[in-house]
Amino acid sequence: MHIITARVPEGVECLDEIHVIGGKCLHGNITVQGSKNTVLPLMSGALLYRGISVLKACPRITDVFYMEEILRALGAETWWEDHDLYLDCTHADGSHVPEIYSGRMRSSIILLGPILARNQRAEIGYPGGCVIGKRPVDLHLYVLRCFGAEIKEEEKKITVSCKKLCGTEIVFSKRSVGATEQAILCAALSKGTTTLRNCAREPEIVWLCRFLNAMGAKIEGAGEDCICIEGTEKLCGTKMQIPADRIVTGTYLCAAAAARGRIVIENAPEGELDAFLQVYRKMGGQYEWNSGKLIADGSQVRFSLPFLETEVYPGFPTDLQSPLLAVLATVPGKSIIKENIFENRFKVCNELCKMGADIRVDGNTAVVCGGRLHGNCVYAEELRGGAALLVAALAAEGSSVIRGCSFIRRGYEDIGGDLKKLGGLITEDIGTVFYENIQL
Ligand code: UD1
Repeated sequence: MHIITARVPEGVECLDEIHVIGGKCLHGNITVQGSKNTVLPLMSGALLYRGISVLKACPRITDVFYMEEILRALGAETWWEDHDLYLDCTHADGSHVPEIYSGRMRSSIILLGPILARNQRAEIGYPGGCVIGKRPVDLHLYVLRCFGAEIKEEEKKITVSCKKLCGTEIVFSKRSVGATEQAILCAALSKGTTTLRNCAREPEIVWLCRFLNAMGAKIEGAGEDCICIEGTEKLCGTKMQIPADRIVTGTYLCAAAAARGRIVIENAPEGELDAFLQVYRKMGGQYEWNSGKLIADGSQVRFSLPFLETEVYPGFPTDLQSPLLAVLATVPGKSIIKENIFENRFKVCNELCKMGADIRVDGNTAVVCGGRLHGNCVYAEELRGGAALLVAALAAEGSSVIRGCSFIRRGYEDIGGDLKKLGGLITEDIGTVFYENIQL
């Protein structure tokens, strides 16, 4: 048996670079990794059962390793068999997630509900994550209060306690993926019925509900505005196949569009990318579905976008805004993008401009005048922005070095390898050993 555990070098200078020689047309077939945003709440949901849950085709990315480490710190046993992640939460009775763990990732906040449901008490350091905006947790805490929890907020930690979570009615003031997941996780084992209105409708919500229903939960309305949950006494273990990652799929489509290539995505998540594909077509991209494969031809991408804004699902996803920006930087004409979800999502523009992009940012709007890009040394500061730099580098003339790629590895298992398979001229220098394999 092979266990992989994250060993994140604290304060270690990590030479983690990707080198790209741009201008080469991408071409070929690729299979996309499992979805990060699906698997993380499922890992939290596994805590609701005192036994083994199995997540098949799980992506081996840093955020999953971080979450795995948190579950282990709570007392879970975890192991991998190829890409299948086994979570044995029989003895995961810890209730404290120190800041050293929670500070690494935003998703740590969705552990609160399940830990509370198990232990009547949960204590967690403030969640970290990508620097794409303020990312408050008020809606999460509101959810927990609605279920009857008492909350103490201190400078470094949040403590939540509740004898028994009680079903409730919540009308969300804004659609939040994480807060909707928090409420679903709380409701599964709570007493009585819960009704959630103005829910996020992202596919990840649907997958979480499928997972919990397979464990014996009674959830109806997943993917709709209103979700109803009949609390149950006990859940059981299950196995679930993690679906292909829609954001990684979109990123690879952007890479092929920027490099004007033609690629086939073998396992693209059909029906989850409609807003993106509409935009892809407007830019001149062509695609067709054939027996579950997405055949995408970016060779004719040449039209700018007069106006595009990010929206909650089923609108255009904020997570694909940066990779799309990199494509638009290569398309002649003026494009305008408005970011409605996270206020700091244009940080990457400075780095794109170092590669010759003409992007002017004013508040939550970016105006892009497309043209030719040239290679440079640029720095990734967060996950999707980092991926956007790689997309731009593939289209740029000459060579580029992308530093800070550990951010990209939070969500992309092997982006360099995948793009290499498609013909991208890429070399990687992971430098410091980032993951340590332990043979048991
Ligand atoms: C999830 C995704 C992230 C994606 C985002 C929006 C995961 C692990 N991450 O993040 O990739 O970019 O959805 O599609 O699934 N908000 C509050 N208070 C809260 C919570 C959120 O004001 O308590 C705000 C946020 O600042 C943001 C908006 O609500 O402006 C939407 O955020 P949310 O949907 O909660 O994003 P996440 O679940 O963090």
